[in-house]
Amino acid sequence: MLNPKWPSVSRRVVVAALAALLLLGVVGVVLAVVTGSWGPLIIGAVVDAVILLAVFERGASNERRALAASIAEFGAAADESETPYAPGTSLDLLRRDLQRDLSATLSLHAALDVERRMPAPGGWAATPDTLAMLVGLLLDRLGDAPVVVECGSGTSTVWLASALRAAGRGRLISLEHDAEWAALSRTRLLDHGLADLVDVRHAPLEAGPEGLWYAESSLGGLERIDLLFVDGPPGFLGEHARRPAYPVLGAALSPGGFVVLDDVDRPGETAIFAEWLAGGELVEAPEYATDRARVARRIG
Ligand SMILES: C[S@@+](CC[C@H](N)C(=O)[O-])C[C@H]1O[C@@H](n2cnc3c(N)ncnc32)[C@H](O)[C@@H]1O
Repeated sequence: MLNPKWPSVSRRVVVAALAALLLLGVVGVVLAVVTGSWGPLIIGAVVDAVILLAVFERGASNERRALAASIAEFGAAADESETPYAPGTSLDLLRRDLQRDLSATLSLHAALDVERRMPAPGGWAATPDTLAMLVGLLLDRLGDAPVVVECGSGTSTVWLASALRAAGRGRLISLEHDAEWAALSRTRLLDHGLADLVDVRHAPLEAGPEGLWYAESSLGGLERIDLLFVDGPPGFLGEHARRPAYPVLGAALSPGGFVVLDDVDRPGETAIFAEWLAGGELVEAPEYATDRARVARRIG
């Protein structure tokens, strides 16, 4: 802390200076009387002035030291407050996540004029970043009357349907293994006035040549798919639960059609995506990748 008093000298220095001034004054007066000359008084006054200057300089030097200490203290405090946001720290990553989610949410609401409260993103549902990418693909990159197929219904179903309504064309087929969840998705679509745009199919999982997948009987009429969003079955059914998506539905994908695999932050989905790419029919489109999804296009 800076001392607002000036000069900032200790009481000992002040007492010593005053004593010296007094002593010099007394000695000067006595000598002046004894010698009958002004000389001792003039010399005493000069020495007094030097003593006073020394005291003030000492005070000024104390002030400078205190100021330097304060600046150093302030700098250390500023460093400390910045440390938690240093690149790579958990707070820094959280801040980036929040900024990305906020920006994607604003994009979604700017792109689609949704009136009712939308189901929450993130967690089980696709993230705002992925939803914004899907909506962008649907509005800007797919041709007339696009066919969108989704594995796993939820928040994404409502956003994709809202994009279809905005585009005024196309349809969405949503495969859902859980009957109750399928019913909930249908109710949400009804609430948003979107039910006519989406075919939510209850598609129980059954064993097939590619492993456990949505029942063959629920896949009827799936052809010329422009966008396949693979966000189901849920990960708790196994690391490779989504592997059959491309082997089963890839042939129904239009040339240039998009495949989006969600949850590629998990090792299972990372391996599945790499396997699909290795098949040679897909090429990755990294420009569309999001915080949790990777995108590929069918060659041809
Ligand atoms: C990853 S979720 C699909 C999420 C969906 N695409 C979305 O964006 O909301 C995969 C499956 O988990 C189930 N599911 C979705 N949300 C759930 C929740 N909040 N609690 C329990 N199960 C959920 C549904 O059966 C869904 O098909």
